[in-house]
Amino acid sequence: MSASSTTATAVVATAFGGPEVLSVVTTDVPAPGPGEVTVDVRAIGTNPVDYKLFSGSMGADPSTLPRPVGMELAGVVSAVGEGAGDLSIGDLGVGDEVIVSGISGAYASAVTVPVAAVVRKPAAASFEEAAGVMLVGGTAVHLLTATSVAAGDTVLVHGVAGSVGLVAAQLAVREGATVVGTAAPHRHEALRAFGIVPVAYGEGLADRVRAAAPQGVDVALDTVGTDEAVDVSLELVADRDRIATIAAFGRAAEAGIKLLGNGPGADPGEDVRDGARPLLAAALGAGELRVLVARTFPLAEAAAALSFVAEGHAGGKVVLLP
Ligand SMILES: NC(=O)c1ccc[n+]([C@@H]2O[C@H](COP(=O)([O-])OP(=O)(O)OC[C@H]3O[C@@H](n4cnc5c(N)ncnc54)[C@H](OP(=O)(O)O)[C@@H]3O)[C@@H](O)[C@H]2O)c1
Repeated sequence: MSASSTTATAVVATAFGGPEVLSVVTTDVPAPGPGEVTVDVRAIGTNPVDYKLFSGSMGADPSTLPRPVGMELAGVVSAVGEGAGDLSIGDLGVGDEVIVSGISGAYASAVTVPVAAVVRKPAAASFEEAAGVMLVGGTAVHLLTATSVAAGDTVLVHGVAGSVGLVAAQLAVREGATVVGTAAPHRHEALRAFGIVPVAYGEGLADRVRAAAPQGVDVALDTVGTDEAVDVSLELVADRDRIATIAAFGRAAEAGIKLLGNGPGADPGEDVRDGARPLLAAALGAGELRVLVARTFPLAEAAAALSFVAEGHAGGKVVLLP
């Protein structure tokens, strides 16, 4: 089935800077070409990288303005290009519920994307949860894979109440690992319900982790990037190949630990992350993985949503609703 191009509401960055540079605009949504689908967006997952990319801290080439924002969403297929039936997910049809990830320009009410960016949304998952699972989930799988987390390991997760940390912890618990995680004290009770042993971050952290894990710590996963997280990881984990960070870009090389993601000296792990998508969708659908949605905002209030995310204590995914 084919369709003609339409328009959508989108949020773009018109300059480099803080969330105030975001503008709501009307954009063209091209008709899907071969191997593409158009998706009517129901929910958009926000991530810290969304604002970092237009902050100027990761490059400020003016020729890239206005910049599309956002990498992931969930929605309903509204048009299908020729040959868009990718064998790995079966033929896609109008009305199918899908998750789209790894794209540029997810802050929109409709998008046309290649089917390689699409997986089916499990019926049991809400659009809000589904919109927020892939970026953090792929990162979490990369963290566990890079450090070979297995049954019987004791894993320290720095920032376990964060979106990446909580998915990494759930997957590690599912593998049969013991998870000790750092979080603000008011989150501890909720974290225990996930089978996580919570400890407060801050002065004295190494001693609190030793008390919580007298058997010792085999693996440390850092999603925070503070000196404290790196130093405590180095102090407690003997094998540096089993310490990985997604945030300590300034310290990883000197500390001899694994740096994952996009940036100088980091392992992007695209195959691992992309390959995890079907597994993450299945786990979400089966209720084996939970995505906590902390707050939703209308798409037009993306600037307020990203200001909230940038405070660093959202307590779950922040989701935009077109
Ligand atoms: N390299 C990559 O591939 C990659 C991929 C995804 C994300 N990231 C980065 O990883 C970081 C986390 O992302 P996210 O999506 O999980 O963010 P998030 O959902 O906003 O979570 C951030 C968490 O950090 C915790 N935190 C804040 N200050 C802390 C401190 N001093 N010590 C310990 N924990 C602290 C907060 O815990 P409390 O609420 O308990 O205070 C919060 O839960 C961001 O910097 C993001 O850009 C990197």
